Amino acid sequence: MSGDKHACDFSIFGVMGDLSRRKLIPSLYQLDRAGLLHEDTRIIGIARHEISQDDFVAKMQMSLETFVKDPLESDVVERLLARLHYVLINLDVPEEYTRLGKAIDQEKRVLVNYFSVAPFLFDDICKGLAHAAIVTPETRVVLEKPIGRDLESSQEINDTVARVFTEEQVYRIDHYLGKETVMNLLALRFANSIFTTNWDHNTIDHVQITVAEEVGIEGRWGYFDKSGQLRDMVQNHLMQILTLVAMEPPVNMDGDSIRNEKLKVLKALRPITADTVEEKTVRGQYGPGFIKGKAVPGYHEEEGGNPASSTESFVAIRVDIDNWRWADVPFYLRTGKRLTTKRSEVVIYFKRLPHNIFKDSYKNLPRNKLVIRLQPDEGVEIEMLNKEPGIGKGVKLQKTLLDLSFSDAFNSRRIPDAYERLILETMIGNQSLFIRRDEVERAWKWIDSIQEAWAECKESPKKYPAGTWGPVASVALLARDGR
Ligand code: BG6
Repeated sequence: MSGDKHACDFSIFGVMGDLSRRKLIPSLYQLDRAGLLHEDTRIIGIARHEISQDDFVAKMQMSLETFVKDPLESDVVERLLARLHYVLINLDVPEEYTRLGKAIDQEKRVLVNYFSVAPFLFDDICKGLAHAAIVTPETRVVLEKPIGRDLESSQEINDTVARVFTEEQVYRIDHYLGKETVMNLLALRFANSIFTTNWDHNTIDHVQITVAEEVGIEGRWGYFDKSGQLRDMVQNHLMQILTLVAMEPPVNMDGDSIRNEKLKVLKALRPITADTVEEKTVRGQYGPGFIKGKAVPGYHEEEGGNPASSTESFVAIRVDIDNWRWADVPFYLRTGKRLTTKRSEVVIYFKRLPHNIFKDSYKNLPRNKLVIRLQPDEGVEIEMLNKEPGIGKGVKLQKTLLDLSFSDAFNSRRIPDAYERLILETMIGNQSLFIRRDEVERAWKWIDSIQEAWAECKESPKKYPAGTWGPVASVALLARDGR
């Protein structure tokens, strides 16, 4: 089983669910289209529906028609549909897993099990797989977030899975790690000497990581209200970006080399306590407003909403990393729903120069800024000062941009969806883009400290109108630090 393509039985538990239909099946189509699926690879859909193989295939075809953005290629559709097999399993009935046992071929193919179901079902599935005796050292499991809602519940989930699978068999998804530009952070940092030597407290003043969303709750009020933006976005996506920006160079690209370095960053995060929570965090909740000229409801008025809810839809946090590299360099994280526009970016602000010889034309030299645009309009830009061309005016400076837009530089090459890359890596058996147990649990430990501090302070989230950049207090968070 070597080489780039690996023959797999790729089983999807919860194949009729939203994630499977929106993301997994369309991603498998794109992989097949790109010639990245082994000819013997099969996709086994598992659900509890009484449905014939033909109807199942028709349903999956409909998912492709609905959710693949490019025009479908009929030969690829045909090839993909021929790989599909449906197996009916009631997840809480261990005996029924023998049907899966019969459908797979572990001599010829690696078994990858994608748990696209709520975590409370993981236990049943693990027991069922063990009962059917189809767990070999080659068997893998892919877990979707949320892995718990705090440290304790995440440990329970991880313990459940660990009773049957070793850590080397477990692939925990954070779809941000599959995004092209998030991966590019490693290339930018560790393949370019101008950055490798200028990436610490000597040259960097502070870092801002923003994941702004235009969408609201999208019919998920029940789930979201129990979670909030801190658990839903910061614990995973923002903290993963933070670790990639802040980590030490790994010795190589191996899964554990990278994850060891990320873990060290998580261990160095200064806990936020009831004493510091007010100065270091801002929680917000959107009220009614306008997005691109269209009226949208507030959080409480969303479908299924409860007017008494004090769940946050916006968070800003000042993070301090207590290690040698980042001493006195704050990282500001900011994320929210129903903000002005969808935009994710990392901005590195370099330190001001110690002395200004251009005072006549520029009183205060601004900080250089490196902007890494994660989505949309992926790219990298550097804001710098240049002399305005011309004679007779002395040296006049002007802010200019060095702008590398990925779509221009790479000729509008299609940027693959995060799930395409991640699914492929599970088939290959590369864990570097997946989160290790100790990482998840460390991240929860830090998040729990904030959640507890908020509970102690009893302060409600600050309101912001939908379509703005969040509560004014989040600007104050930076202003307080003179930034
Ligand atoms: C998910 C969150 O993990 O990420 C959603 O549960 C959020 O609430 C989504 O909207 C954002 O992902 P993306 O890829 O659209 O930035």
